[in-house]
Amino acid sequence: MPKVSTMDQLFLEEIRDLYDAEKQLTKALPKMAKAATSEDLKAAFQEHLEQTQGQVQRLEQVFELIGEKARGKKCAAMAGLIQESTEIVSETDDSPVRDAGLIAAAQKVEHYEISGYGSARTHAELLGNDEAARLLEETLNEEKETDQKLNELAQTVNMEADEESEDMEMDDEEEETAAPARASARSGSKSAAKTKSAGSSRNS
Ligand SMILES: [Fe+2]
Repeated sequence: MPKVSTMDQLFLEEIRDLYDAEKQLTKALPKMAKAATSEDLKAAFQEHLEQTQGQVQRLEQVFELIGEKARGKKCAAMAGLIQESTEIVSETDDSPVRDAGLIAAAQKVEHYEISGYGSARTHAELLGNDEAARLLEETLNEEKETDQKLNELAQTVNMEADEESEDMEMDDEEEETAAPARASARSGSKSAAKTKSAGSSRNS
């Protein structure tokens, strides 16, 4: 295969990668919605599926603008990120803990897309293709909004997952220890858990 040696060619490679990534996502999102237990999270995945279908169409418009046939090139990164979300589902029960893991996996996907669309948009500008740049920026903004929505959802879901984890710990302790010891152990683990929950949802 000839080497990619011009910015036009690099841009085409980027669009092909994004096209394949979005197509993979349109297949993965219904599964993620099905696996989620929170109704709000299900709805968010469902909504993002519709958005993603629109993003596929936008990329088809970009292909048209540069006079190329719409054709994807296997995006290994997206395949890996989707694989990770599948693993989270198989490693958890129907629970807020699964939801917390699914949100983390979905945010990895969004961050990958944000960087991909950011570069592609900048390269379109560099090539003087303002219309392509505008289309790519539109999708870029949707990905950023989705990431923000996931941040917000994470705040409730992480709290529920945290509470559930505490209940599970309490059940374990009930089997092992007497009541007074249990009360003090719980207040200890609660403050530790509060510190932890401030983490993943506020990182971006
Ligand atoms: Fe997307």
